[in-house]
Amino acid sequence: MRKKIVAGNWKMNNDLSQTQDLLASLKTQVIPEDVSVMVGPSFTNLYQAFQSLKDHPIEVIAQNMHQSSEGAYTGEVSAPMLRSVGITTVILGHSERRAYFNENDALLAEKVNTALDNDMKVIFCFGEELDERKANNHFNIVKSQLEKGLFHISKEHWSNIVLAYEPVWAIGTGETASPEQAQEMHSFVRKTIASEYTSQIAENVSILYGGSVKPNNAAEIFGKEDVDGGLIGGAALDAQSFMAIVNGFG
Ligand code: G3H
Repeated sequence: MRKKIVAGNWKMNNDLSQTQDLLASLKTQVIPEDVSVMVGPSFTNLYQAFQSLKDHPIEVIAQNMHQSSEGAYTGEVSAPMLRSVGITTVILGHSERRAYFNENDALLAEKVNTALDNDMKVIFCFGEELDERKANNHFNIVKSQLEKGLFHISKEHWSNIVLAYEPVWAIGTGETASPEQAQEMHSFVRKTIASEYTSQIAENVSILYGGSVKPNNAAEIFGKEDVDGGLIGGAALDAQSFMAIVNGFG
């Protein structure tokens, strides 16, 4: 059985007191035992969030990290720093990092290596832009992102990888990929992994969908065979909405 996961990516939202308020609301909720629930506050609030959720099933994760483990990189945060405040999972390759911070496949491959070298789990994001889908090039784009950013890792490392398909045109736009479009891509990704690695690795890896998942569409999307959960942006900023999504598995 693949792990069901719902991860909230808070992006650059919530200062310390807003973070504390949201965590307090989340802590009053019942977390289903069969779903791994994660939240990703900003760097400044990770320590506080980790302390606050120490004895709670919700895991605190990071939204990004630098590809080097230490050094003269002003303003950056390393994997060992994340680990030192209790964080063992990091989102890498989010389309906002790719688009606004010039993170390309080669850089992401380095970041993946650094995370794995530091015993961290990676939520690896990928997905096509609107013009790429319109040109019917979305499968090629996704395959290329996976091949260049991730497929250099060894078989043993796949237990530390979660995938997140996020079509860029669906992020924060209110436009969601249809459950069928999500299923089609997730199934393609699984087949690609099976042919590059093994069918067992492909079967075991959780593939999340991200892009305007809301309480009213989560169940239908999560109901698809190859969709193992979601990476949630906007709707993760409200405890009720987020929990409604977490409870969206049939
Ligand atoms: O990381 C989360 C995704 O970018 C989805 O964001 O739910 O606001 O569309 P969204």
